[in-house]
Amino acid sequence: MSLYVYVEPDDERRTHWGNDFRAIGGTMLKSMSELESYLPRYPETLLVVIGAVVDLDEALMFTAYQRLQRPVIGVVLIRHAIEAGVVLRCLQSGIRDLVAEEDEEGIRSATVRSVDLSKALSTTMRGTGDNAPYASVVTVFAGKGGCGRSVVAVNLAVALAGAGRRVLLMDLDLQFGDVAIMMKLSPERNIAGGLQMAGRLDEPGLRSIVTTYRQSLDALLAPASPAEGEQVRREFVVELLDVARPLYDFIVVDTPSVVTDQVLAALDMSDWFIPIVTPDLPALKSVRLTAEMFDLLDYPKDKRLLVFNRAGAQVGLSPSEVEVAAGMPFAVQVPASRDVTVSVNHGEPIAVTDPLHPVSRAIRELGDRIAGVGTTPQRRRGFLGRLFP
Ligand SMILES: Nc1ncnc2c1ncn2[C@@H]1O[C@H](COP(=O)(O)OP(=O)(O)OP(=O)(O)O)[C@@H](O)[C@H]1O
Ligand SMILES: [Mg+2]
Repeated sequence: MSLYVYVEPDDERRTHWGNDFRAIGGTMLKSMSELESYLPRYPETLLVVIGAVVDLDEALMFTAYQRLQRPVIGVVLIRHAIEAGVVLRCLQSGIRDLVAEEDEEGIRSATVRSVDLSKALSTTMRGTGDNAPYASVVTVFAGKGGCGRSVVAVNLAVALAGAGRRVLLMDLDLQFGDVAIMMKLSPERNIAGGLQMAGRLDEPGLRSIVTTYRQSLDALLAPASPAEGEQVRREFVVELLDVARPLYDFIVVDTPSVVTDQVLAALDMSDWFIPIVTPDLPALKSVRLTAEMFDLLDYPKDKRLLVFNRAGAQVGLSPSEVEVAAGMPFAVQVPASRDVTVSVNHGEPIAVTDPLHPVSRAIRELGDRIAGVGTTPQRRRGFLGRLFP
């Protein structure tokens, strides 16, 4: 994770600036398309430096788009030479600073100035400084249907809210979401209601489509029909999360069993990954594939918390066999209990109706792991403070 990114397609220049930039904890990228996939995963990025050989139009389009999406990010553009016509276009697109490539001192001071401004902006935009929330995204995922994703997501959201955190539960099972029925919520307000605001969603807009379950727990429900679910694009999921993050401490995301574009968008923005496994061979196969996918996508291993659901079911596979086959340790074991099915059928999360039930306790333990060791932007800002005192 780094807060500063330098896009430099030219090998020689990348080597020249590499050490300098890495010394301040920066990341070097080779292309604008790498940058595009990097930013959703590191929304806390404050500075993007764009090298002299990157196409001007591409750089300006990127900047104009980010000015609306992530106004905190500052873009410093390096060019071979500064021409009057280019300066005007840069101003119009929102470039923070334009520097000639031979002016190395100018480049350094432009980056420091831009980071200072971004720090000031992010404090103002998040409201009151250190106590302002900036949600950690927690995505519950399993490649096999019916293994308890929605039960875990719903009860995890209840557990985190019960610990005094502001929580948004987002149902990204856009075709067949179950959150509404599991919480007995009327599905009138849902993600589809935000579609006409796509590209310009703001806080009141988001608030107009969430459903409040209880104090400090809101739900963003799946569309009422599968057809509407198909209209929700990946970019809109990113936008929903971007707008929601400053309003909550945690965003818990429930997902379908297929890796859709929308699920990938949420995973890419996640701070915590909650794979689920049950004691049966198809689930074991799918959790291994999930782990391989997480490896490929470079999701940090220490942010994956494996839930063993239906633990204790007498089905011929012991917990240790499941753990070995899954290839990672369990974070928590949620026992099998018919009370879970009863709670689902009543539309009342078990963590609400019976907080002391072993299932509720196990999920609360998961919540404690997430809430207790979560990274916070305050800490990140402190880190930055040390880099640019
Ligand atoms: N620990 C448990 N003990 C007993 N039953 C459970 C447990 N966890 C889940 N179930 C049962 O399994 C069913 C499926 O759970 P859930 O809907 O959470 O799975 P899912 O992975 O979200 O499935 P889907 O693919 O339908 O989205 C629930 O209706 C519930 O009755
Ligand atoms: Mg489900």
